[in-house]
Amino acid sequence: MIARRILFCASEVYPLIKTGGLADVAGSLPRALNKAGHDVHIVMPAYQSVLKHLKRPAKVLVETGVQDYTVRISQTTLPGSRVPVLLVDCPELYDRPGNPYLDDQGQPWPDNAMRFGVFNRMILALAMNRCGLQWQPHIVHCNDWQTGLVLALLSSERKRPATVFTIHNLAYQGVFDRSAFEQLNLSDYLWHYERLEYHDQFSFIKGGLVYADRINTVSPNYAKEIQTSTFGHGMQGLLQHRADRLSGIINGIDTHTWNPGTDVLLAHKYNKQHLDDKLENKRALQKRYSLPEKQDMLLLAVISRLVEQKGIDMLLAVLPDLVKRPVQLVVLGSGHKLFESALQAASQKYSEKLSVHIGYDETLSHQIEGGADVFLMPSRFEPCGLNQMYSQRYGTIPIVSPVGGLFDTVVDASAENLQAQTATGFVMQQANEQALLFAIDRAIDLYQQPEQWRSLVKIAMQQDFSWEKSATAYEQLYEQALRDNP
Ligand code: ADP
Ligand code: GLC
Repeated sequence: MIARRILFCASEVYPLIKTGGLADVAGSLPRALNKAGHDVHIVMPAYQSVLKHLKRPAKVLVETGVQDYTVRISQTTLPGSRVPVLLVDCPELYDRPGNPYLDDQGQPWPDNAMRFGVFNRMILALAMNRCGLQWQPHIVHCNDWQTGLVLALLSSERKRPATVFTIHNLAYQGVFDRSAFEQLNLSDYLWHYERLEYHDQFSFIKGGLVYADRINTVSPNYAKEIQTSTFGHGMQGLLQHRADRLSGIINGIDTHTWNPGTDVLLAHKYNKQHLDDKLENKRALQKRYSLPEKQDMLLLAVISRLVEQKGIDMLLAVLPDLVKRPVQLVVLGSGHKLFESALQAASQKYSEKLSVHIGYDETLSHQIEGGADVFLMPSRFEPCGLNQMYSQRYGTIPIVSPVGGLFDTVVDASAENLQAQTATGFVMQQANEQALLFAIDRAIDLYQQPEQWRSLVKIAMQQDFSWEKSATAYEQLYEQALRDNP
């Protein structure tokens, strides 16, 4: 494979800042590409929490004007790697507490179009080597709506790099009104339904979907689903039109951060030869969640953004039935206030069975993976999903709905698959309440057959979800994009 210069553009990158799986991917794919010999630079906004995370201040490389703002590019490295991270630093736009997208009331920052508009214009300047860094990428790899405009801006450049746009979640599209389009001084030519206009509004994500040389999403199954009206979020027509440029590449996971054998966040490390140590983590988890410390009670877990996508309404609906069964449930999550308060109310009502922690807690998320028996992911849609893969690695059997990447990464514990020793979890027949309860009942049954359960756990733990394979698929995608670049 030819070594390439790659500019990897993302709004969140673990461990510098994370609200969801995009950060996990942006923190590990560039590392894998770097290891494969490519010269990868990440570019991201210098959010307040990113700056706070740095041990040493980032080195300022250039200062320039974008729109009416003074913007600096400074450089740091991705912690634990040699991958350079270019920070787009503009305190007026990014130096704010909390979430990159939402204010403390949970509302989008009112100037988001400008915040990401400036970010995208800086990426354009980097991509075209106009910042004086003497470095021009062969490939610009953009991720999700926050970087979608880059591809529209690049499309009118001569001798531009080839472009790839990855859809991590089509539900978030970066849609603003016409005044935002005007404030960003975009060419009128782009205000057209075949370009950035979307039902009289201005769509960032369309920049990526219309203009990228190659589009991909984070699982083969989701790549098919988004071409249908059920999963297309209004973009199905456009995606069908671009189907010859659209593919799916399953995410890998960071097998170093997520390794039960070395995980310092666990009370007891374990591996598939020493599964009894997992029970110690179970006890610690029950204690932490103030649940009765019963070793033989099936312990279910959820770690999630508490939003519609994740089937939280489904979970709430089955709770009254669920608590009648021999199970306990721990939840870690934050998101919509309605879901947060409904879960909290339920945990008061069923305190022997259900315990809920509202918030975002990296350490606790590892302890849950280490201690639980089963991980619930009844998503309505799921582009890839990472927790079902972390769960398998931790021997925490996933129960998933049959959508997106969940369908691609979990092998159902049917009689045949159990016998063939390929099963790794339970795949619901549909994404609904009945199917969820039915899958949980199947898990309860199997758990009562310790030999069978142990074998399922071991096979799940053997699965290889490391980045190497997926990084190779991205290398091929980059080569295709280079061939397609006019
Ligand atoms: P999504 O990106 O749609 O939220 P993924 O499964 O791809 O879904 O990734 C979610 C990531 O965020 C996982 O690494 C998961 O462990 C983490 N996560 C979600 N909610 C929390 C939370 N409340 N505390 C800690 N980690 C969380
Ligand atoms: C999105 C999706 C999730 C995916 C993640 C990383 O947030 O919701 O399914 O795993 O991006 O690609």
